[in-house]
Amino acid sequence: MTRHRNIPARERLIFALDVPNRSEAIAWIDRLGDAVAFYKIGLELLAGGDYFAVLDELAKRGKQIFVDLKLHDVPATVAGAVRGLARRPVTFATVHCDSRAMLEAAAAARGSMRLLAVTVLTSNDRADLAALGVQGEPAEVVVQRARLARDAGIDGVVCSGADLPHLRTALGENLLTACPGIRPAGPAGDDQKRTVDVPTAFARGADYIVVGRPIRNADDPRAAAETIVAQIASAIG
Ligand code: C5P
Repeated sequence: MTRHRNIPARERLIFALDVPNRSEAIAWIDRLGDAVAFYKIGLELLAGGDYFAVLDELAKRGKQIFVDLKLHDVPATVAGAVRGLARRPVTFATVHCDSRAMLEAAAAARGSMRLLAVTVLTSNDRADLAALGVQGEPAEVVVQRARLARDAGIDGVVCSGADLPHLRTALGENLLTACPGIRPAGPAGDDQKRTVDVPTAFARGADYIVVGRPIRNADDPRAAAETIVAQIASAIG
């Protein structure tokens, strides 16, 4: 039986605010209103130049913030970046699973911000890993990397809902899990390969889900977000 942490259903939905600039970001925050309490801001917004303006706006509106910059560099550089982010009102930030030294340096610099390690991207499957010289099923690689992250003091992992059964069996319930690659209506034929729907993710022990295009491309995005929150509420009981 999967144990669910005491996190309200609405706070378990993290909306991927993958837009290029502040005006589009604000339009989405206004459009989604109270339906979304937690926002993930990533590389597209960073490259657009409005990253910290949007971060400050989210904080001003009382939203939780997930900084998804997937840090990956030598330990000292990653530690410096984590230290800078930890001075801001950020709930989660991501680092790639790399050397233990890098993960430990990140963990030591995180302050009260929590770090999630990216294990295997949900856009990568077994063949993609093999082409990179990494053998094994994605779920096995996820467990190996998640163990390394946990032992280095990282708070949780980003993984596919498809990886969760292996992960929870191997490493128990303590690691936080955030799962992208959520496709409420089944595979969408886009870049995400290892997808699950909302009830499946929570039945398998996800703490959070990250959802972008299924909300952004919906006819009524706010209603789509509300439907997902309702599905989460019924899945976690
Ligand atoms: O649009 P979609 O629902 O696929 O958005 C998923 C989001 O999660 C994107 O912002 C993507 O960068 C992020 N992500 C992911 N796989 C990971 C880590 C993050 O898809 N392993």
